Amino acid sequence: GLLDATGLGIGAIIGAGIFVVFGIAAGVAGPGVILSILVAGIVSSFTAYSYIKLSSTITKTGGPYAYAEAVISPFAGFVTGWMWVFENIVTGATVSLGMANYVVSLFPQLPMVPVAILFPLLLTGLNVVGVKESSILNALLNFLKLSALFLFIAIGLGHLNFAYYGPLMPNGIEGVFRGAALIFFAFIGFGRAPTAAEEIRDPARTIPRSIILALSLSAVIYMLTGFVAIGLENYEALAQSGAPIADATEHGIRIFWLKILVSFGGVAATLSVLLTTLIGVSRVSYAMARDTKLPRFLARVHNKYHTPHSAIIFTGVATAIFPLIGDIQQTASVTNFGALFVYSIVNLSAIFLMKKNALSSSGRIIPSLIGFASCILLMLFLGWKSWAIGIIWICLLYTSDAADE
Ligand code: ALA
Repeated sequence: GLLDATGLGIGAIIGAGIFVVFGIAAGVAGPGVILSILVAGIVSSFTAYSYIKLSSTITKTGGPYAYAEAVISPFAGFVTGWMWVFENIVTGATVSLGMANYVVSLFPQLPMVPVAILFPLLLTGLNVVGVKESSILNALLNFLKLSALFLFIAIGLGHLNFAYYGPLMPNGIEGVFRGAALIFFAFIGFGRAPTAAEEIRDPARTIPRSIILALSLSAVIYMLTGFVAIGLENYEALAQSGAPIADATEHGIRIFWLKILVSFGGVAATLSVLLTTLIGVSRVSYAMARDTKLPRFLARVHNKYHTPHSAIIFTGVATAIFPLIGDIQQTASVTNFGALFVYSIVNLSAIFLMKKNALSSSGRIIPSLIGFASCILLMLFLGWKSWAIGIIWICLLYTSDAADE
């Protein structure tokens, strides 16, 4: 239903982005990171428009992969799907690292990397058991993370130090855009519901509404959280922290129970993103395998649980490997490169779809054109390493596809 689908969206959106990557973005943009959040939110909403156009027409499981395949070409679908799978595996890894930061801020005696590896594996098991059970856990985690952020905002507003807001843009407008390219991570996931389209009731109506609800709610929460966090602690200190929202609570509000609640909120948030990411990425791998675009074994469905268990286990294990190599800033940038690439194609698919339906002259195509251009623009503000890794990945796809043929 609508509530489940919106919950899946909120579950997928609010996570390590606002709880962890926010600090790194603040280091780049300064207090102007609040504007970075706005820019990233605007870029996301144009792309969300394209998602809505597409998801009300194409209700097959698979999200961007299914769209590009249906309206552009099977090859575009293949490239998009592979980039999407890769981007989501790295998202999972980034989020696992972010979660480990919050777990360690609660229990400093625990080792970071093993924690970051353990959770994806546990959630993989849960995912195999079924999407209904996962959605109950997701609702609980959403409740915890939203309560933590609401209390942080409400209580934090009474403790702001306005000296922290100036100078607003120490690194100029370029800093704000570089910050936006990083904090874009916080918005990734708004298109999650379509990836489970065949498990959602009346998807052509439910999915578009759930996307609008989830994205607007998250954008408002992010702007407020960013505004409050900047007023609680110097942005340079936030940039140094692995758990910036918890640290802002500790140093700016100084209420012990609130800091603990915020830390649990951080863990809940990252867990929920991880859960929905695993659900999404396993369904796309499954859909691709079903169409023989990935090895057939990934299309297996469990006899008892009726879930694509091979795809789930494959993606869960791949996610658990990355925290061994990654630093969170790098994994977040690579994720954003992949996501912006996929979102560009989603916008292109919407443009193709509208052209096909002869809607291109009616002005409805304009938001998708802006979406496409703005995704490319944000990609330009990501570091060269993310470009290099992304391009290598695309080349690998190309070679493997050529080898198959
Ligand atoms: N938007 C997701 C997060 O912030 C990926 O964790």
